[in-house]
Amino acid sequence: MKSFEKLLLTNKAWAKEKVEDDPEYFLRQAKIQTPEFLWIGCSDSRVPANEVTGTAPGEIFVHRNIANMVVHTDLNLLSVLDYAVNHLKVKHIIVCGHYGCGGVKASMTQHSLGIINKWLRNIKDVYRIHRDEIDGIPDEEARADRLVELNTKEQVMNLAKTSIIQAAWKHHQRPHLHGWVYGLKDGILNPVFDMAPGTHIDPLYEYDNL
Ligand code: CO
Repeated sequence: MKSFEKLLLTNKAWAKEKVEDDPEYFLRQAKIQTPEFLWIGCSDSRVPANEVTGTAPGEIFVHRNIANMVVHTDLNLLSVLDYAVNHLKVKHIIVCGHYGCGGVKASMTQHSLGIINKWLRNIKDVYRIHRDEIDGIPDEEARADRLVELNTKEQVMNLAKTSIIQAAWKHHQRPHLHGWVYGLKDGILNPVFDMAPGTHIDPLYEYDNL
């Protein structure tokens, strides 16, 4: 059997088991989704949002990209964010980085990776802001892991800089923003930063007419 055929076969068995347990399961799922959470995570195959949080289909709205970035010109991210905040009315947004992130590690080198360079540039900018702290860490792996934490925090702050979040905070007192970092070695989610609705940010980024 080819590897992809196994996926389809496993899917059939999974769907059959779901219906056996609960005949209405898919009928209900097809009608509506009311997730309370938006997850912005890394595309890394080892950090599946539902599995590491023990949540079921329908519970988390998910966006993933290389190194869980919140880039203010990314139409894909902004569309997901707008839909999650203004239509699904999520209460929490989790930006989830992970230790050992290949995207973050690549951003710390001088090696060109072609078009990915443009994406990693955003992480290099985070490194530059925190260069003194990161360069002061003797161990290479620890340096990268610290940048993972700082990058996760920075992406949470990037969310707070969007008019989507600022308007939702002002008019609906939600969502709460969280920055977590997942450990590939122990499976633990480590909260590193959070912003409650209404948290003040640098006034330069605060809109006064939303
Ligand atoms: Co990663």
